[in-house]
Amino acid sequence: MRTIIEPFRIKSVEPIRCSTRAQRERALQRAHNNLFGLHAADVLLDLLTDSGTGAMSSEQWAAIMRGDETYAGAISFDRFQASVRSVTGFEHVIPTHQGRAAEHLLFGLLGGPGRVIPSNTHFDTTRANIESGGARALDLPCPQAAELHSDEPFKGNMDLEALERVLRSGASGVPLVMVTVTNNAGGGQPVSLANLRGVRALCDRFRVPLFLDACRFAENAWMVRSREPGQESRSPREIARSFFDLADGCTLSAKKDGLANIGGFVALRDALIADELRARLVLTEGFPTYGGLAGRDLEAIAVGLQEVLDPDYLEYRHASIRYVVERLRARGVPVVWPAGGHAVFLDARTFLAHLDPHEFPGQALALELYLEGGIRSCEIGSVMLGRNDPATGVLQPARHELVRLAIPRRTYTQSHMDYALEVIEAVWMRREAIPGVRISKAPAVLRHFRAEFERVPARAEAAR
Ligand SMILES: Cc1ncc(COP(=O)(O)O)c(C=O)c1O
Repeated sequence: MRTIIEPFRIKSVEPIRCSTRAQRERALQRAHNNLFGLHAADVLLDLLTDSGTGAMSSEQWAAIMRGDETYAGAISFDRFQASVRSVTGFEHVIPTHQGRAAEHLLFGLLGGPGRVIPSNTHFDTTRANIESGGARALDLPCPQAAELHSDEPFKGNMDLEALERVLRSGASGVPLVMVTVTNNAGGGQPVSLANLRGVRALCDRFRVPLFLDACRFAENAWMVRSREPGQESRSPREIARSFFDLADGCTLSAKKDGLANIGGFVALRDALIADELRARLVLTEGFPTYGGLAGRDLEAIAVGLQEVLDPDYLEYRHASIRYVVERLRARGVPVVWPAGGHAVFLDARTFLAHLDPHEFPGQALALELYLEGGIRSCEIGSVMLGRNDPATGVLQPARHELVRLAIPRRTYTQSHMDYALEVIEAVWMRREAIPGVRISKAPAVLRHFRAEFERVPARAEAAR
């Protein structure tokens, strides 16, 4: 059959509150034009993030009832550890309450002043955790990552030549190399197995450990299967394992491909580092057999890590994202191409070509999608990743101005995707009248979460 269906039946439903444009305008005012400030009830289609927003399966809910809440030595930890080991092959498994806690733990130990941590592209929380400890987070995406509309299948790859230059000039200051699969900040694009082998070879040559930020390891494996010659007959589990086999460890937010609503972990081979991480874990997260999680959360993750590798699930997931991306592209809407693993990324710089980066086109477009149809999306552009020069205050724009419509796992259906398409097209039709925004208030780090914005009139309107 040509139609790829959702490979599940719905057992429990949650109502969505429909709203009028006037209601959404008021809600946006209350939120100071920051979509993170909206109340959930005021959002019709919540595509802010795919993190922790997925629907759990009946098996996961059943596992939750088995949760063992014993403080030390919980049976749930055994099941969690066995599941992580079976997928990753890493011996030491350290649970944390979510991905950034795993990052905080790892970089608290291995980062610090004078250190440099290269990556294909660090996610914002990873960067913040590295930089808050005094180390430098260095992005080395492959050159093709900059071409948002080309057919290149592996735009998540790392630039191997650039990595070699960094390692050659000072490998002693590089405690580890990190590869993010898939590359979230770079458009959810996959990393090829060939590229990771190249990174591994360099890490071996310069004796530097390799870690994965493996939040979306299964989605990456599926795209490798579909796009990398020689991988088409391997299962997602085998491909994912090839990735983990090339690494010394990983951090993982279980809120993505763990198919859980909370949780994360660090997993690695090195017993000494693992011991030190466990000692630190007790200070902030909890005892090593639960980290920052309840026993029931460990159970949900243990099941989710297995379910996510089901080929039927992965095929449906990618088909639904491809469906939106292909239709937008056919209608001329600028969208990151090829389709990534967890989200549709609109190219706001081209979409709102009349706005300059300091007018934050990504934020402007995200606000418009909300006003038009109650869709909450996320700016990944100069608000999130741009920097203001400390001396002059002038904005150094981000490489791209993207709006991410992240698709929660197993949560929305085909008709929700059709609705999203209709809203995006309506905004596209009146794009030239869309005003820019300016930041009226912003915290020093991770400003996109709590910044306040004002809409500035479109230039044509202002000149009138
Ligand atoms: C690539 C990547 N790394 C790390 C994180 C942080 O994970 P968490 O939100 O669980 O702290 C995220 C979250 O979106 C992510 O996308």
